[in-house]
Amino acid sequence: MKKKLTIGLFGFGVVGQGLYNVLNQTHGVKAVVKKIAIKDKDKVRTLSADLFTTEKSVILDDPSIDVVVELINDHEAAYAIVKQALINGKHVVTANKRMLAEHLEEFYELQQRYGKSILYEGSVCGSIPIIRNLEEYYDNDLLTSIEGIFNGSTNYILTKVFEEKKSYAEALLKAQELGFAETDPALDVEGYDAKFKLVIAMAHTFGVFVKPSDVINIGINKISSTDLKYAKEHNLSIKLVARAFKQGDQVFGFVAPQLIEAHHPLASIRNEYNAVLVEGAFAEKQTFVGKGAGSYPTGSAVLSDVSALTYGYAYEYKKRLQHELLTFSNDLLVEAIVTFDEEQQVSIQEFVNFKSGYAAHGKQLLQGELTLNKFKELSLRAGVSVILAPQVSFKPLSEKRPHQLLEV
Ligand code: HSE
Repeated sequence: MKKKLTIGLFGFGVVGQGLYNVLNQTHGVKAVVKKIAIKDKDKVRTLSADLFTTEKSVILDDPSIDVVVELINDHEAAYAIVKQALINGKHVVTANKRMLAEHLEEFYELQQRYGKSILYEGSVCGSIPIIRNLEEYYDNDLLTSIEGIFNGSTNYILTKVFEEKKSYAEALLKAQELGFAETDPALDVEGYDAKFKLVIAMAHTFGVFVKPSDVINIGINKISSTDLKYAKEHNLSIKLVARAFKQGDQVFGFVAPQLIEAHHPLASIRNEYNAVLVEGAFAEKQTFVGKGAGSYPTGSAVLSDVSALTYGYAYEYKKRLQHELLTFSNDLLVEAIVTFDEEQQVSIQEFVNFKSGYAAHGKQLLQGELTLNKFKELSLRAGVSVILAPQVSFKPLSEKRPHQLLEV
């Protein structure tokens, strides 16, 4: 039996307005917004002033409100609101990926302690229904990997730079104007946003709670003209790929730009679209595609969570119950292409397994296997750009590969 829900909404920006509008256009969802908490009371709004408040307690302490929908920018303020809402006996729907990634384990415990649910489909890949699929559809399949394009802004920028020859700065500005980018766009272009989403996805794919600071993220902000030229000459594109996979009792996960072959499922994912490739022992490979950012696409995912609450849905974090807990590791070899301007910024001795290199017009390009930690270290070096090779295979360092490890 569906219950009619009364919502207290925090935030009325791109996603908050999207939710409000999709809720009003969807007759099947039994929910009504009673109050909206906003920061700026002087901003001109089209809705009645009675609907708004600047006091969070007006929502958090109202016993008639059963669901808090949290859609504000500030992740620290959001954390305080969400925690208090659960303690006050309210369900929560949020799309705040940074807050979730940083506090997921605590929210898992708070849900158990207070018997209330926190749902966050909109936090990972916008409109793609991935969290509930990982929880429910794949509850019995042994998932081995999840990877894809988890950030709409960077995919939008890469599409515009590649296909329309727009400058990086121009494309970023447009992504900001369209409301895809974070308030601080460094979170998008440096790969943090995709990492937060990956951390959330890992909890539902493998049952692990990983601290975001333990996960390596490399963004698209240092992609060089040499990388673009190399990609075009080899009929490749560049995508920012978030991935996590299981080998033995270990889980590996990181975010990095990668060269993608034309026939790869990610090659055709353009603009703000996201894609998630899931691989399981029985279902094998499946691809989900949808808009990863924007007012209505994300609003529709939030609405779907509100709808799920009307029939009492809660995540069970089923993968935590299915097998021994896995450990997260960065001890991995990756195959990369490293480009740089000056000679001797990067030496071939830094590779575990050096494959090839060339120099032309003052630019150098080296390809080979590196440890993931070295890959990250090189990405931070001035004038150096790193990118994963296409058809990359990843080798855990714990696998015995003495002939290559000896070369370090
Ligand atoms: N900045 C994010 C993106 C918004 O571009 O994907 C959606 O999470």
